[in-house]
Amino acid sequence: METANKNTQKTTVLVTGGAGYIGSHTCVALLEQGYDIVVVDNFVNSSPISLERVCQITGQTFPWYHADLRNRTQLDEIFTKHHIDWVIHFAALKAVGESVAQPLRYYENNINGTLSLLAVMAKHECKKIVFSSSATVYGDPEQLPLTEDCALRTTNPYGATKLMIENILRDICHADQSWTAVILRYFNPVGAHPSGLIGENPQGIPNNLTPYIAQVLTGKLPYLQVFGDDYPTADGTGVRDYIHVCDLAQGHLQAIAKVQQSGVFTYNLGTGRGYSVLDVLHAFERASNRKIPYQIKPRRAGDIAECYADPRRAEQDLAWQAQYDLDAMARDLWRFYTQNPQGYTK
Ligand SMILES: NC(=O)c1ccc[n+]([C@@H]2O[C@H](COP(=O)([O-])OP(=O)(O)OC[C@H]3O[C@@H](n4cnc5c(N)ncnc54)[C@H](O)[C@@H]3O)[C@@H](O)[C@H]2O)c1
Repeated sequence: METANKNTQKTTVLVTGGAGYIGSHTCVALLEQGYDIVVVDNFVNSSPISLERVCQITGQTFPWYHADLRNRTQLDEIFTKHHIDWVIHFAALKAVGESVAQPLRYYENNINGTLSLLAVMAKHECKKIVFSSSATVYGDPEQLPLTEDCALRTTNPYGATKLMIENILRDICHADQSWTAVILRYFNPVGAHPSGLIGENPQGIPNNLTPYIAQVLTGKLPYLQVFGDDYPTADGTGVRDYIHVCDLAQGHLQAIAKVQQSGVFTYNLGTGRGYSVLDVLHAFERASNRKIPYQIKPRRAGDIAECYADPRRAEQDLAWQAQYDLDAMARDLWRFYTQNPQGYTK
């Protein structure tokens, strides 16, 4: 992959949710490639320790603000203090199950946070944004692999917030042609920085497969529950497109470097390859050199058999391609968990 050139003109990027899982990895990539960054996070699902680790990895410091995006006054002060060229907008609540139980909280945080951000950006004539969307906007896939032109239909409030924000961005760009919005639809981010210093903070109840696997490996859970082994897939378990978080981070840098025009640009960020639950389990067994006990349970309502991306548009337009394979994802995540068994602690 041709990586974006070093940022010689010092572009400043505001990273919302920069202390989070994908945000912290993107901060590392931005700093390493010569960008100035400013981080805004309310730490609702993260810790400032991740930002200290970003400094440790890169040997650089940067300004960060403990602020909620919905606080326009504070956001306005940040945009007054710093000249921001691009915003990468990660900040959101992201747990699907929680969004079903607490829809108002999700709409309130994700939609109002974004509206507040966009209003302050417009006021300060900063009109370039990269937005974290998700493959969840495709709902039950109408075809595989999923292209960016597939039908959009969400099945839970979290997904609905992603689709609404996509629509808001499309409307803004339509109304004012000086805006640039890059919508990145992530598939299933996994892995951690190879240093083992940053990763997904393994606190609370996990939402995804790999944190569950890690909890079995660390003895917090007795076995992994595998929901369904009778899907029409090679081994009967569900198939997803897992992507290393460092590949995902690099996708954001490619977007900033390559998208020069105004308008809306939408890209899938996935590997284009599906792995089953058992493929992932075996990769973690190899990485940890341990056996992972599991039990087959009935399918979960709402789960789909298969989901994987067609990433060719990002390859062509952004010169971006995933580099890491499933073993690297398992190895790096396992390293993070073994180095940080209690999550981010000093
Ligand atoms: N991890 C995934 O599986 C996945 C998949 C597809 C899309 N995404 C999207 O990518 C983005 C980043 O995900 P992540 O996995 O890094 O999540 P994360 O929870 O680790 O990071 C999100 C960050 O945003 C912050 N935040 C939330 N609401 C805020 C607010 N109102 N003001 C300020 N900060 C706020 C949180 O404290 C956290 O640090 C999210 O928008 C998520 O929906 C994630």
